[in-house]
Order: sequence, then C-alpha cells, then structure tokens
Amino acid sequence: MTSTDNAGNASKPAVKDPWELPDVSGLVVGVLGGTGDQGRGLAYRLARAGQKVIIGSRAAERAQAAADELGLGIEGADNAECARRSDIVIVAVPWDGHAKTLESLREELSGKLVVDCVNPLGFDKQGAYALKPEEGSAAQQAAALLPDSRVTAAFHHLSAVLLQDASIEEIDTDVMVLGEVRADTDLVQALAGRIPGMRGVFAGRLRNAHQVESLVANLISVNRRYKAHAGLRVTDV
Ligand SMILES: NC(=O)c1ccc[n+]([C@@H]2O[C@H](COP(=O)([O-])OP(=O)(O)OC[C@H]3O[C@@H](n4cnc5c(N)ncnc54)[C@H](OP(=O)(O)O)[C@@H]3O)[C@@H](O)[C@H]2O)c1
Repeated sequence: MTSTDNAGNASKPAVKDPWELPDVSGLVVGVLGGTGDQGRGLAYRLARAGQKVIIGSRAAERAQAAADELGLGIEGADNAECARRSDIVIVAVPWDGHAKTLESLREELSGKLVVDCVNPLGFDKQGAYALKPEEGSAAQQAAALLPDSRVTAAFHHLSAVLLQDASIEEIDTDVMVLGEVRADTDLVQALAGRIPGMRGVFAGRLRNAHQVESLVANLISVNRRYKAHAGLRVTDV
C-alpha cells in the first residue's frame, strides 16, 4: 500500500500500525498437552475471555476430565482430534515429548497456526538452565518437523500458577511473539491480547526463539529468590 502527498504524488509505502491486530474471537484454539499446568492455565484464561477452546491429551478421557473441571464451554479430545478441529494450536507438552508429539500430528497440523510455548530446560543443584536443541530452539524444531504448518512461538514466560488462579482478574505481563510471517504473529498477538492484562509484542523471527525460551531459566531463578511468579514487560512500546 502506498500513500500520496498533497500534490497527489505517490510517496513511501504507508506504515502499518503495529497495534492494529486482527479479530480472533471466532477462532477455535486447541491446546496439545492441555491437561498439564501450562495448558490448563492457557485454556482457562482464553475460555474465560470468550474463546472456544479444546484441550488435547494423549488420552481423550484425561482431556475430557480436565475440560469438565474447567467448564466455560471447554471441550476435551485426544491430541489428534484437538489439532484437527482447531484453527490455532498451542503446543504445551514437555520438551521431552515435543518432537515425537509433533511428528505424529504432522498431517492434523497441516495448514494450522501452531504456537509453541515449550521451554527446553534442564535442572540440577544450581537450578534451571537452558538446553541447546540441535535445531536451535523448540520453535525451530517445530518448524522443521511441521513444514506445512505456520509455526510461531509465544507464551513462554507465563506463570501457570497465576493463569490457573481464578481469583486473579488480570495477568500483568507481555507475551513475546515470534514467527516468520507477520499475518501469523499478528494473530498470536491478538490472541494474547484477549486475556485481560496481557499484551502480545512481536519479538522477532524463529531463529531468535532460543533466547526467549532460555530466559525462563532466569525467571525461575527470580521466582525462587523472591518467592514470586515473575512476568515480563517490554518498555517503550
Ligand atoms: N508450567 C509453566 O509455568 C510453563 C510456563 C510456560 C511454558 N511452559 C511450557 O509448557 C509446556 C508444558 O508445561 P507443563 O508444566 O504444563 O508440563 P506437564 O504438566 O509436565 O505436561 C503437560 C502435559 O503434556 C502431556 N505429556 C507429558 N509427557 C508427555 C510426552 N512425553 N509426550 C507428549 N505429551 C506428554 C501430559 O498430558 P497427557 O498425559 O494428558 O497427554 C501433560 O499433562 C512445557 O514445555 C513448558 O516448558 C510451562
């Protein structure tokens, strides 16, 4: 798109307002591994904001039990059905099961907007530390395994404890959103913005996902020292 000056001459292309985000309220969100703390927390918050949510699990009955517990119109299904029926699919399984889960769902995830929130971390006596995935990051591994999906990365820095605490009205945090295609990262930013207090901020291409995933090791150190559930804010944007 170009704009014109007063004389009608074409000038520089119009800059798109980065906060002009699409309406995602009608999209179905699936959560693979949605029976765990992070998946449940995200499912709860998104459903509470009015989003249609399907919890996925390796076992349909576990997904159903989690969905029944949370209410809010959330449904449960096995991971494959969850992926098939969803427009946006959040990957919330442990790093250990990441590659195998995605490999097995390649077909169901074809064409879908995939949002990876997996943090490859190790733990020892000194606390949490970042692992170094062969592909660079969990998100890049997802992109390599899912060539027919639109892979993005987001929701790494959230506290599952806060997400699941029904007494908390607003989740005071920014969500760093990474991906290769602006239309896709815009959708994920918009999704994050559905949750009161939360804001999605574009934070680069997937090749920069490693730092974002790794930063969780630092947040865990913060949480341990200050007995907190730390989040992040990007200032001046
Ligand atoms: N917890 C947090 O605060 C937090 C915050 C940000 C990001 N994350 C990321 O979110 C992901 C999930 O975290 P979580 O704490 O919710 O983990 P979790 O409870 O250990 O696992 C989530 C779910 O994944 C499924 N699962 C377990 N092992 C699996 C395997 N080997 N293969 C496939 N599925 C498996 C299980 O569901 P079924 O048995 O029902 O299939 C489980 O309920 C992690 O990658 C983590 O790095 C977590």
